[in-house]
Amino acid sequence: MPFDAHGHLVPGALPPARAVPAHIARPPYVGLAAPPGYAGDNTYTEVEVERIRTAGRIAARALDAVGAAVRPGVTTAELDRIAHQCVVSQGAYPSTLGYRGYRASSCTSVNEVICHGVPDDTELREGDLVNVDVTAYLDGFHGDTNRTFRVGEVAEEVDLLIERTHEAMMRGIRAAKPGRQVNVIGRVIETYAKRFGYGVVRDFTGHGVGAAFHTGLIIPHYDSAPAYSDVIVPGMVFTVEPMLTLGVHEWDQWEDGWTITTRDKSLTAQFEHTVVVRENGFELLTLSE
Ligand code: MF3
Ligand code: CO
Ligand code: CO
Repeated sequence: MPFDAHGHLVPGALPPARAVPAHIARPPYVGLAAPPGYAGDNTYTEVEVERIRTAGRIAARALDAVGAAVRPGVTTAELDRIAHQCVVSQGAYPSTLGYRGYRASSCTSVNEVICHGVPDDTELREGDLVNVDVTAYLDGFHGDTNRTFRVGEVAEEVDLLIERTHEAMMRGIRAAKPGRQVNVIGRVIETYAKRFGYGVVRDFTGHGVGAAFHTGLIIPHYDSAPAYSDVIVPGMVFTVEPMLTLGVHEWDQWEDGWTITTRDKSLTAQFEHTVVVRENGFELLTLSE
């Protein structure tokens, strides 16, 4: 059921709705069709950065727990249950739950799914890859992170795609220095990815994050200059979350309104950190300790 005769993914059955204890504060968009407009900028005080870091740490710990559970036979719904439980048990709210009508506590994107895969009864198979994306909300601030996990042993080209997608993210983060435009990040990522002939997804991007889940600041992962010319300043917080493919960068969307796959069904990987820019570098705000 969850894979067709060609081994391509098809929609499965959805798990029951996940409950969040009443004492956990909801972000303002829950129950609305779209988030209220965000008027603030993308720089934060030290107190605010620490709040983003606390939320980011909770999301990262959820990914640690999910990663420990990835194995052949586990369903993406089970991974989502683990992510949900881990976020909620730390007193935080899973930001995706009720975001623009999305109904899960994580995104689980398997094989050709670029992003926004919806957890269901799909059982992972040896050799698959799965990206899990978790965002936590605590004390008014969001931290957003994702990782791609290998299911058992994967083919060498898949192993390399995952490894290089992580390296592409880190190169993009290291390029983000005060005084440069945010388009430097995608220029560095695309240049690296093109060495290997990978597709670089253009239509899903990094973003400002913190006081809002998506603040309006866009961080492309391809060379977009002269567009996206916002100048990087110390204290700025955003995600870098490149999606690289073994084929094309074009995509299709499932009728569920969420799941995004490569148009050619090529495999795709992603990593994401929330980062704060410093005078002399950066800090990752989505580390588990
Ligand atoms: N966490 C994703 C990001 O990196 C956003 C997921 S929104 C959802 O920006 F609604 F699809 F969950
Ligand atoms: Co993000
Ligand atoms: Co994310």
